[in-house]
Amino acid sequence: MSKIKVGLIGFGRMGGFYLKEMQKSKQWDIAYICDTNPKSRKKAQESAPLSVIVDDENIIFNDPEVQVVGLFALADTRKNQIEKALASGKHIIAEKPVSDTIDNEWQIVDMAEKSPLLSTVNLYLRNSWYHKAIKDFIAAGEIGELAVIRVSHLTPGLAPGEGHEYEGPSFHDCGMHYVDIARWYAESEFKTVNAQALRMWNYKDPWYLQCQGTFENGVVYDITQGHVYGQLSQIQTHNSYIDIIGTKGIARMTHDFKTAVVELHGVTQTHRIEKPFGGKNINVLCQRFADSVLSGNRHPDLPTIRDAAIASEFAWRCLENAASNDLPAIGNLQTLEEIRKRRRTLKNGYGLLNQ
Ligand SMILES: NC(=O)c1ccc[n+]([C@@H]2O[C@H](COP(=O)([O-])OP(=O)(O)OC[C@H]3O[C@@H](n4cnc5c(N)ncnc54)[C@H](O)[C@@H]3O)[C@@H](O)[C@H]2O)c1
Repeated sequence: MSKIKVGLIGFGRMGGFYLKEMQKSKQWDIAYICDTNPKSRKKAQESAPLSVIVDDENIIFNDPEVQVVGLFALADTRKNQIEKALASGKHIIAEKPVSDTIDNEWQIVDMAEKSPLLSTVNLYLRNSWYHKAIKDFIAAGEIGELAVIRVSHLTPGLAPGEGHEYEGPSFHDCGMHYVDIARWYAESEFKTVNAQALRMWNYKDPWYLQCQGTFENGVVYDITQGHVYGQLSQIQTHNSYIDIIGTKGIARMTHDFKTAVVELHGVTQTHRIEKPFGGKNINVLCQRFADSVLSGNRHPDLPTIRDAAIASEFAWRCLENAASNDLPAIGNLQTLEEIRKRRRTLKNGYGLLNQ
């Protein structure tokens, strides 16, 4: 089987995850890894001794043998890299968000949709077994009509000022995944929104946000997201779930990042499924993309750049809506400094960069 030649740009936490999964698969030949930071290049050299490690992305774009580029640096550089990829005939796996402004994101949607090249974005929840199991259960009519989608993702994760400066506050950087998955379940576009946020630790941007509203088809949602969940607790924990309510039954999921538990309460079937969580499902994304490149047929479940732009734009809309409501501040920057200090030395924690 011929392998797909790929160049990875950005070798931080996510770049490392992609490398591991591509190395495990037999579908990829990781020809290049590019990073502007010498420390990341050294790590890349150690992890992928057969790849060419570069600090100039143009070497990758100028190599006609490279078929796919993986764009895993930060949002500020992505638009330019996507333009170069499309101009040099390379398929694209991009991290989210696809750029750092809504205008740029829609320009990218336009460019990508005009191109015959394949592109996808890592909206990773769509690639998970647990959301697929719940969606199949809904499609089988087991919960009656889909009525309410409730999502929560609260973790002691990435704190303000630790990185991801171009990806926006927590509800944009991380929350856009939950925005996206709610839209994926609803199979409809967002209509209304009411958002309440909090400027935890008196930081300038809210790090907790809860929103609720409707989709065009009448389905009601609420989404709660925050990386504010006990960063200084002796033993850290999180609270992450989806809770789907139909006219006749319910379906829900919770996880501890190791195991996910799906509970399905339908009119004729009741199931409890417990399986490994699956992390960011990058193996699934990479395999679907590789299969699409090799067959020339796009896998139907691959998220699109348009999906990412919609989720990103809506997450910004929630933050704007929250700013026009009461936006209290609780706590102080000294606590935030204690959190950053603790996280700098954590070896095993939530969303640690440069591991
Ligand atoms: N889909 C997901 O679930 C998910 C989760 C976490 C992060 N992300 C996204 O992935 C991206 C990377 O996040 P991360 O956590 O790996 O960040 P990170 O800070 O760990 O890594 C970013 C890397 O990119 C490098 N870099 C920056 N500019 C570059 C350039 N112009 N060329 C080459 N390398 C460059 C940096 O040196 C760094 O090594 C972000 O946009 C983030 O939003 C997505």
